Amino acid sequence: MKKILILKGDGIGPEIIKEAIKVLEIIEKKNNIKFEFHEALIGGQAIDKYNDPLPQETIEKLKIVDAVLLSAIGGPKWENLPQDKKPEKGLLRLRKELNAFANLRPAKVFSCLAEASTLKKEIIDGIDLMIVRELTGGIYFGMPRGKVNDSYVNTASYSEEEIRRIVKCAAQIAMKRKKKLCSVDKANVLEVSQFWREITIDTINKDFPEIELSHMYVDNCAMQLIRNPKQFDTIVTSNLFGDILSDEASMLTGSIGLLASASIGDGSKPALFEPIHGSAPDIAGQNKANPIAMILSTAMMLDYSFNMNKEALIISNAVETILNNGYRTADLGGELKTSEIGDLICQEIERNL
Ligand code: IPM
Ligand code: MG
Repeated sequence: MKKILILKGDGIGPEIIKEAIKVLEIIEKKNNIKFEFHEALIGGQAIDKYNDPLPQETIEKLKIVDAVLLSAIGGPKWENLPQDKKPEKGLLRLRKELNAFANLRPAKVFSCLAEASTLKKEIIDGIDLMIVRELTGGIYFGMPRGKVNDSYVNTASYSEEEIRRIVKCAAQIAMKRKKKLCSVDKANVLEVSQFWREITIDTINKDFPEIELSHMYVDNCAMQLIRNPKQFDTIVTSNLFGDILSDEASMLTGSIGLLASASIGDGSKPALFEPIHGSAPDIAGQNKANPIAMILSTAMMLDYSFNMNKEALIISNAVETILNNGYRTADLGGELKTSEIGDLICQEIERNL
Protein backbone atom coordinates (compact mmCIF):
# COMPACT_ATOMS: atom_id res chain seq x y z
CA MET A 1 0.00 0.00 0.00
CA LYS A 2 1.28 3.42 -0.96
CA LYS A 3 -0.03 6.53 0.73
CA ILE A 4 -0.20 9.65 -1.38
CA LEU A 5 -0.95 13.14 -0.18
CA ILE A 6 -3.02 15.01 -2.73
CA LEU A 7 -2.66 18.79 -2.63
CA LYS A 8 -5.30 20.09 -5.02
CA GLY A 9 -4.13 23.69 -4.86
CA ASP A 10 -5.68 26.66 -6.63
CA GLY A 11 -6.86 27.66 -10.09
CA ILE A 12 -6.71 24.75 -12.52
CA GLY A 13 -5.18 22.58 -9.75
CA PRO A 14 -8.28 20.55 -8.82
CA GLU A 15 -9.16 19.84 -12.47
CA ILE A 16 -5.77 18.54 -13.47
CA ILE A 17 -5.12 16.53 -10.32
CA LYS A 18 -8.44 14.76 -10.88
CA GLU A 19 -6.98 13.37 -14.11
CA ALA A 20 -3.85 12.22 -12.28
CA ILE A 21 -6.00 10.34 -9.78
CA LYS A 22 -7.90 8.71 -12.63
CA VAL A 23 -4.59 7.45 -13.98
CA LEU A 24 -3.57 6.06 -10.59
CA GLU A 25 -6.92 4.32 -10.22
CA ILE A 26 -6.47 2.58 -13.55
CA ILE A 27 -3.06 1.35 -12.46
CA GLU A 28 -4.52 0.20 -9.17
CA LYS A 29 -7.29 -1.69 -10.93
CA LYS A 30 -4.92 -3.50 -13.25
CA ASN A 31 -1.99 -4.11 -10.91
CA ASN A 32 -1.68 -5.63 -7.55
CA ILE A 33 -1.12 -2.34 -5.79
CA LYS A 34 -3.23 -0.19 -3.52
CA PHE A 35 -2.97 3.58 -3.34
CA GLU A 36 -4.41 5.39 -0.36
CA PHE A 37 -5.23 9.01 -1.08
CA HIS A 38 -5.03 11.63 1.65
CA GLU A 39 -5.92 15.25 1.07
CA ALA A 40 -4.74 18.52 2.54
CA LEU A 41 -4.78 22.22 1.77
CA ILE A 42 -1.98 24.45 0.57
CA GLY A 43 -1.72 27.90 -1.03
CA GLY A 44 -4.77 30.09 -1.54
CA GLN A 45 -7.25 27.43 -0.41
CA ALA A 46 -5.36 27.08 2.85
CA ILE A 47 -5.18 30.84 3.32
CA ASP A 48 -8.96 31.09 2.91
CA LYS A 49 -9.59 28.42 5.52
CA TYR A 50 -6.68 28.75 7.97
CA ASN A 51 -5.14 32.13 7.14
CA ASP A 52 -1.92 30.20 6.54
CA PRO A 53 -0.61 28.93 3.15
CA LEU A 54 0.87 25.80 4.78
CA PRO A 55 -1.23 24.98 7.84
CA GLN A 56 -0.11 22.62 10.59
CA GLU A 57 -2.77 20.09 9.50
CA THR A 58 -1.00 19.76 6.17
CA ILE A 59 2.44 19.49 7.77
CA GLU A 60 1.17 16.66 10.01
CA LYS A 61 -0.07 14.70 7.00
CA LEU A 62 3.37 14.87 5.39
CA LYS A 63 4.56 12.58 8.15
CA ILE A 64 2.25 9.72 7.28
CA VAL A 65 2.50 9.55 3.48
CA ASP A 66 4.98 8.02 1.02
CA ALA A 67 4.77 10.76 -1.63
CA VAL A 68 3.14 14.12 -2.25
CA LEU A 69 1.33 15.08 -5.42
CA LEU A 70 0.74 18.80 -5.88
CA SER A 71 -0.93 20.62 -8.74
CA ALA A 72 -0.35 24.37 -8.58
CA ILE A 73 -0.95 27.28 -6.24
CA GLY A 74 -1.69 31.00 -6.34
CA GLY A 75 -3.99 33.46 -8.02
CA PRO A 76 -4.96 37.14 -8.18
CA LYS A 77 -7.13 36.85 -5.09
CA TRP A 78 -4.08 36.43 -2.86
CA GLU A 79 -1.58 38.55 -4.77
CA ASN A 80 -1.64 41.55 -2.49
CA LEU A 81 -1.14 39.73 0.77
CA PRO A 82 2.10 40.29 2.70
CA GLN A 83 5.00 38.12 1.46
CA ASP A 84 4.69 35.63 4.34
CA LYS A 85 1.01 35.02 3.75
CA LYS A 86 1.16 34.51 -0.01
CA PRO A 87 0.32 31.10 -1.53
CA GLU A 88 3.89 30.87 -2.91
CA LYS A 89 5.22 30.95 0.62
CA GLY A 90 3.28 27.75 1.31
CA LEU A 91 5.04 26.01 -1.54
CA LEU A 92 8.47 27.23 -0.46
CA ARG A 93 7.84 26.11 3.10
CA LEU A 94 6.60 22.75 1.86
CA ARG A 95 9.82 22.18 -0.10
CA LYS A 96 11.84 23.13 2.95
CA GLU A 97 9.72 20.96 5.24
CA LEU A 98 10.38 17.95 3.00
CA ASN A 99 14.05 18.91 2.65
CA ALA A 100 13.44 18.54 -1.09
CA PHE A 101 16.70 20.11 -2.15
CA ALA A 102 16.82 18.70 -5.68
CA ASN A 103 14.27 19.66 -8.27
CA LEU A 104 14.38 17.51 -11.39
CA ARG A 105 12.85 19.17 -14.41
CA PRO A 106 13.09 17.07 -17.56
CA ALA A 107 12.37 18.72 -20.91
CA LYS A 108 11.83 16.31 -23.72
CA VAL A 109 10.33 17.12 -27.07
CA PHE A 110 7.58 14.90 -28.39
CA SER A 111 8.38 14.74 -32.09
CA CYS A 112 4.78 15.21 -33.11
CA LEU A 113 4.73 18.51 -31.21
CA ALA A 114 7.91 19.91 -32.70
CA GLU A 115 5.66 22.16 -34.79
CA ALA A 116 4.01 23.54 -31.65
CA SER A 117 7.21 25.19 -30.48
CA THR A 118 7.89 28.79 -31.37
CA LEU A 119 11.34 27.64 -32.49
CA LYS A 120 12.25 25.93 -35.73
CA LYS A 121 11.60 22.20 -35.87
CA GLU A 122 15.22 21.28 -36.63
CA ILE A 123 16.46 23.18 -33.58
CA ILE A 124 14.22 21.39 -31.14
CA ASP A 125 13.45 17.97 -32.58
CA GLY A 126 15.18 15.41 -30.38
CA ILE A 127 15.72 17.62 -27.32
CA ASP A 128 16.08 15.56 -24.18
CA LEU A 129 17.49 17.53 -21.32
CA MET A 130 17.28 17.45 -17.56
CA ILE A 131 17.54 20.54 -15.42
CA VAL A 132 18.53 19.81 -11.84
CA ARG A 133 17.63 22.88 -9.86
CA GLU A 134 18.76 23.41 -6.26
CA LEU A 135 15.51 24.00 -4.40
CA THR A 136 15.96 24.77 -0.71
CA GLY A 137 18.76 27.33 -0.72
CA GLY A 138 20.16 30.30 -2.59
CA ILE A 139 18.47 33.66 -2.85
CA TYR A 140 15.03 32.14 -2.17
CA PHE A 141 15.98 31.44 1.42
CA GLY A 142 19.22 33.30 2.24
CA MET A 143 19.38 35.65 5.21
CA PRO A 144 19.22 38.56 5.75
CA ARG A 145 16.11 39.24 3.76
CA GLY A 146 13.53 41.99 3.74
CA LYS A 147 14.00 45.51 5.00
CA VAL A 148 17.49 46.44 6.14
CA ASN A 149 17.82 50.09 7.07
CA ASP A 150 16.31 51.95 4.13
CA SER A 151 16.75 49.22 1.53
CA TYR A 152 15.26 45.86 0.75
CA VAL A 153 17.62 42.90 0.43
CA ASN A 154 17.73 39.24 -0.49
CA THR A 155 20.83 37.16 -0.01
CA ALA A 156 22.19 34.55 -2.40
CA SER A 157 24.09 32.13 -0.20
CA TYR A 158 25.26 28.53 -0.56
CA SER A 159 27.24 26.42 1.85
CA GLU A 160 29.73 23.79 0.72
CA GLU A 161 27.41 21.02 1.85
CA GLU A 162 24.43 22.43 -0.04
CA ILE A 163 26.47 22.61 -3.24
CA ARG A 164 27.99 19.14 -2.86
CA ARG A 165 24.69 17.37 -2.32
CA ILE A 166 22.97 18.95 -5.34
CA VAL A 167 25.99 18.37 -7.57
CA LYS A 168 26.16 14.72 -6.45
CA CYS A 169 22.48 14.29 -7.17
CA ALA A 170 22.86 15.84 -10.62
CA ALA A 171 25.95 13.74 -11.32
CA GLN A 172 24.10 10.53 -10.43
CA ILE A 173 21.38 11.50 -12.87
CA ALA A 174 23.93 12.42 -15.54
CA MET A 175 25.60 9.01 -15.08
CA LYS A 176 22.35 7.35 -16.16
CA ARG A 177 22.11 9.67 -19.15
CA LYS A 178 24.92 10.87 -21.43
CA LYS A 179 27.41 11.52 -18.60
CA LYS A 180 27.52 15.17 -19.60
CA LEU A 181 26.94 17.74 -16.89
CA CYS A 182 26.80 21.49 -17.41
CA SER A 183 26.93 23.62 -14.27
CA VAL A 184 25.33 27.02 -14.74
CA ASP A 185 26.41 29.99 -12.61
CA LYS A 186 27.43 33.64 -12.72
CA ALA A 187 31.00 33.16 -11.55
CA ASN A 188 32.25 36.17 -13.50
CA VAL A 189 30.37 38.45 -11.10
CA LEU A 190 29.15 36.64 -7.98
CA GLU A 191 31.32 35.24 -5.20
CA VAL A 192 28.65 32.69 -4.35
CA SER A 193 28.93 31.42 -7.94
CA GLN A 194 32.73 31.24 -7.77
CA PHE A 195 32.37 29.03 -4.71
CA TRP A 196 29.65 26.99 -6.47
CA ARG A 197 32.06 26.38 -9.35
CA GLU A 198 34.98 25.46 -7.08
CA ILE A 199 32.95 22.92 -5.11
CA THR A 200 31.34 21.52 -8.25
CA ILE A 201 34.72 20.86 -9.84
CA ASP A 202 36.02 19.25 -6.66
CA THR A 203 32.94 17.02 -6.23
CA ILE A 204 33.03 15.77 -9.81
CA ASN A 205 36.81 15.24 -9.79
CA LYS A 206 36.64 13.22 -6.59
CA ASP A 207 33.53 11.13 -7.11
CA PHE A 208 32.56 11.16 -10.78
CA PRO A 209 35.68 10.99 -12.93
CA GLU A 210 33.70 9.64 -15.89
CA ILE A 211 31.55 12.74 -16.16
CA GLU A 212 32.33 15.38 -18.74
CA LEU A 213 31.81 18.58 -16.74
CA SER A 214 31.39 21.99 -18.31
CA HIS A 215 30.51 25.41 -16.91
CA MET A 216 28.40 28.14 -18.39
CA TYR A 217 27.36 31.60 -17.27
CA VAL A 218 23.63 31.86 -16.84
CA ASP A 219 23.16 34.64 -19.39
CA ASN A 220 25.01 32.59 -21.99
CA CYS A 221 23.01 29.50 -21.05
CA ALA A 222 19.74 31.38 -21.57
CA MET A 223 20.98 32.24 -25.05
CA GLN A 224 22.39 28.77 -25.85
CA LEU A 225 19.11 27.11 -24.86
CA ILE A 226 17.45 28.96 -27.71
CA ARG A 227 20.37 28.83 -30.14
CA ASN A 228 21.28 25.16 -29.83
CA PRO A 229 19.42 23.35 -27.05
CA LYS A 230 20.59 19.92 -28.14
CA GLN A 231 24.10 20.64 -26.85
CA PHE A 232 22.76 20.06 -23.31
CA ASP A 233 22.12 16.83 -21.49
CA THR A 234 22.05 17.44 -17.73
CA ILE A 235 22.20 20.95 -16.28
CA VAL A 236 22.80 21.68 -12.60
CA THR A 237 22.16 25.14 -11.22
CA SER A 238 21.04 27.25 -8.29
CA ASN A 239 17.47 27.87 -7.18
CA LEU A 240 16.79 31.15 -8.99
CA PHE A 241 18.71 30.35 -12.18
CA GLY A 242 16.95 26.97 -12.35
CA ASP A 243 13.57 28.61 -11.92
CA ILE A 244 14.19 30.88 -14.89
CA LEU A 245 15.95 28.38 -17.17
CA SER A 246 13.32 25.69 -16.64
CA ASP A 247 10.53 28.00 -17.77
CA GLU A 248 12.62 28.80 -20.81
CA ALA A 249 13.30 25.12 -21.48
CA SER A 250 9.60 24.33 -21.24
CA MET A 251 8.81 26.48 -24.23
CA LEU A 252 11.30 24.50 -26.29
CA THR A 253 8.91 21.59 -25.92
CA GLY A 254 5.88 23.46 -27.20
CA SER A 255 3.91 24.16 -24.06
CA ILE A 256 4.57 24.70 -20.38
CA GLY A 257 1.55 22.46 -19.89
CA LEU A 258 3.71 19.43 -20.65
CA LEU A 259 6.54 19.64 -18.15
CA ALA A 260 6.64 17.61 -14.97
CA SER A 261 8.95 17.82 -12.01
CA ALA A 262 10.12 15.86 -9.02
CA SER A 263 11.46 17.46 -5.85
CA ILE A 264 13.49 15.03 -3.84
CA GLY A 265 15.64 15.00 -0.73
CA ASP A 266 17.81 12.39 0.91
CA GLY A 267 15.01 9.82 0.98
CA SER A 268 14.12 10.23 4.65
CA LYS A 269 11.01 12.24 3.80
CA PRO A 270 8.42 11.85 1.05
CA ALA A 271 9.27 13.40 -2.30
CA LEU A 272 7.07 15.98 -3.97
CA PHE A 273 5.80 15.82 -7.54
CA GLU A 274 4.33 18.78 -9.35
CA PRO A 275 4.03 20.24 -12.82
CA ILE A 276 6.31 23.22 -13.42
CA HIS A 277 3.45 25.42 -14.58
CA GLY A 278 1.32 27.67 -12.42
CA SER A 279 -2.34 27.65 -11.47
CA ALA A 280 -3.55 29.50 -14.63
CA PRO A 281 -6.42 31.32 -12.88
CA ASP A 282 -7.60 32.77 -16.21
CA ILE A 283 -8.78 29.36 -17.40
CA ALA A 284 -9.63 27.80 -14.02
CA GLY A 285 -12.86 25.83 -13.76
CA GLN A 286 -13.34 25.64 -17.53
CA ASN A 287 -12.08 22.09 -18.11
CA LYS A 288 -9.61 23.58 -20.60
CA ALA A 289 -6.23 23.12 -18.94
CA ASN A 290 -3.71 20.62 -20.21
CA PRO A 291 -3.45 17.80 -17.63
CA ILE A 292 -0.35 16.26 -19.21
CA ALA A 293 2.30 17.90 -16.98
CA MET A 294 0.32 16.72 -13.96
CA ILE A 295 -0.01 13.21 -15.35
CA LEU A 296 3.69 13.06 -16.21
CA SER A 297 4.49 14.25 -12.67
CA THR A 298 2.46 11.28 -11.45
CA ALA A 299 4.57 9.03 -13.66
CA MET A 300 7.69 10.52 -12.07
CA MET A 301 6.22 9.70 -8.66
CA LEU A 302 5.72 6.05 -9.61
CA ASP A 303 9.25 5.91 -10.95
CA TYR A 304 11.15 7.73 -8.19
CA SER A 305 9.13 7.01 -5.07
CA PHE A 306 7.56 3.61 -5.74
CA ASN A 307 10.05 1.99 -8.09
CA MET A 308 7.29 1.34 -10.60
CA ASN A 309 9.38 2.12 -13.67
CA LYS A 310 7.30 -0.06 -15.94
CA GLU A 311 4.07 1.74 -15.10
CA ALA A 312 5.79 5.13 -15.33
CA LEU A 313 6.91 4.28 -18.82
CA ILE A 314 3.44 3.09 -19.80
CA ILE A 315 2.06 6.47 -18.71
CA SER A 316 4.58 8.51 -20.67
CA ASN A 317 4.11 6.28 -23.70
CA ALA A 318 0.34 6.74 -23.42
CA VAL A 319 0.83 10.51 -23.40
CA GLU A 320 3.02 10.28 -26.47
CA THR A 321 0.52 8.04 -28.27
CA ILE A 322 -2.45 10.34 -27.78
CA LEU A 323 -0.36 13.31 -28.87
CA ASN A 324 0.79 11.35 -31.92
CA ASN A 325 -2.85 10.66 -32.67
CA GLY A 326 -3.45 14.39 -32.80
CA TYR A 327 -5.38 14.92 -29.57
CA ARG A 328 -4.66 18.38 -28.10
CA THR A 329 -5.89 20.82 -25.49
CA ALA A 330 -6.15 24.53 -26.27
CA ASP A 331 -2.57 25.40 -25.24
CA LEU A 332 -1.42 23.17 -28.12
CA GLY A 333 -3.94 24.56 -30.56
CA GLY A 334 -6.55 21.85 -30.01
CA GLU A 335 -10.08 21.79 -28.70
CA LEU A 336 -10.19 18.87 -26.31
CA LYS A 337 -11.14 19.30 -22.68
CA THR A 338 -8.98 18.45 -19.68
CA SER A 339 -11.12 15.43 -18.82
CA GLU A 340 -11.21 14.19 -22.42
CA ILE A 341 -7.42 14.14 -22.62
CA GLY A 342 -7.37 12.38 -19.25
CA ASP A 343 -9.82 9.74 -20.49
CA LEU A 344 -7.82 9.13 -23.65
CA ILE A 345 -4.63 8.68 -21.67
CA CYS A 346 -6.39 6.31 -19.26
CA GLN A 347 -7.74 4.18 -22.13
CA GLU A 348 -4.28 3.98 -23.62
CA ILE A 349 -2.75 2.99 -20.29
CA GLU A 350 -5.41 0.35 -19.76
CA ARG A 351 -4.63 -1.16 -23.13
CA ASN A 352 -0.95 -1.46 -22.31
CA LEU A 353 -0.86 -2.50 -18.69
C1 IPM B 1 8.26 27.12 -9.75
C2 IPM B 1 7.48 28.34 -9.37
C3 IPM B 1 7.75 28.67 -7.90
C4 IPM B 1 9.21 28.96 -7.73
C5 IPM B 1 6.88 29.78 -7.32
C6 IPM B 1 5.40 29.52 -7.52
C7 IPM B 1 7.18 30.01 -5.86
O1 IPM B 1 7.81 29.40 -10.21
O2 IPM B 1 8.06 26.06 -9.12
O3 IPM B 1 9.08 27.20 -10.67
O4 IPM B 1 9.65 30.10 -7.95
O5 IPM B 1 9.95 28.06 -7.38
MG1 MG C 1 9.05 28.86 -11.82
